[in-house]
Amino acid sequence: MEQRDYWNSVSEKKEFTTPFHAEAFSKYVKKDALIVDVGCGYGRTLNELTGLGYSNLIGLDFSQGMIDRGKKAFPSLDLRIKTDDSIDLPESSVDAVILFAVLTCIVDNEDQKKLVSEIYRVLKPGGILYVNDFILNIDERNLNRYKQYEEKYGCYGVFELPEGAVVRHHSEDWIKSLLNDFDQKECERLICIMLSKILPRTSFVNGVLSMGQQSIGLFFVFLTLYFTSKEKVMH
Ligand SMILES: C[S@@+](CC[C@H](N)C(=O)[O-])C[C@H]1O[C@@H](n2cnc3c(N)ncnc32)[C@H](O)[C@@H]1O
Repeated sequence: MEQRDYWNSVSEKKEFTTPFHAEAFSKYVKKDALIVDVGCGYGRTLNELTGLGYSNLIGLDFSQGMIDRGKKAFPSLDLRIKTDDSIDLPESSVDAVILFAVLTCIVDNEDQKKLVSEIYRVLKPGGILYVNDFILNIDERNLNRYKQYEEKYGCYGVFELPEGAVVRHHSEDWIKSLLNDFDQKECERLICIMLSKILPRTSFVNGVLSMGQQSIGLFFVFLTLYFTSKEKVMH
C-alpha cells in the first residue's frame, strides 16, 4: 500500500498521542512566530499551540483525509494539502517548523533528505526546527521486526505494520547526519513504556515507576531534538 493511501485510510480514526514539548518549544519560539507543522495530521499540535497563544500557524499534510478531518475538528486552523516534495512557501520566510513523527513515515534516505532540505530552504536563518521521531529500540519485538525486513527494504529499522504501513526507526547517527545543516540546541531522549495490562505490583518509589517483577508490553524510544538553522550556508 502506498504511504499516502495508508494515511488516508486511517485518517478518520487514528489518534496521535505522543506529547508535544510545548514548554521547551516556547523557550525558542515567540508567540507571533510563523510556524509550519509539516505532516500535521489532523492538526492536534497546532490546536495545542493555538491554546498557548500562537496564532500564525500553517499545517501541511499529504493526506487529504487528515486535512479534511482537521478542518472539521479545528475550523479556524489553516491546514493545507501538500501535493509534492516541495513546501509551497518562500525561502527564508518561516520562523519555526515542526516535524513530529513524520520521518518515521518516510523510509527512504533520499526522500528524508529532500524534505529536510525544503525545510531548511523555507526557514529563516536562526529559525527553529522541532523534530520528534522514533529511534532504534533494543527490545525483542523490535529487534525481530528490524531483522525480518532489513533485506527487503535495505535498511535496518524499517518494518511493516500489520495494517499496511511501512515505518522506520532511526539510529541517532542517521538523524544527526540528516540534520547536519542545523545547529543543535537541545536533544532529549524520551522513553515511553506502554504496559500491556494493569500490573498489580507496579508502584511509584520516590516518584519513579517501579516495575518489580513485571513484564513490559511495548517499549518505544522517542528522540526529541530542537534545532536552530545555521546562518545560511548553502551547498
Ligand atoms: C504519525 S502521523 C503524525 C501526525 C502529527 N504530526 C501529530 O503528531 O499529530 C504522520 C503524519 O505525516 C503525514 N505524512 C507522512 N509522510 C508525509 C510526507 N512525505 N509529506 C507530508 N505529510 C506526510 C501523514 O499523512 C500523517 O498525517
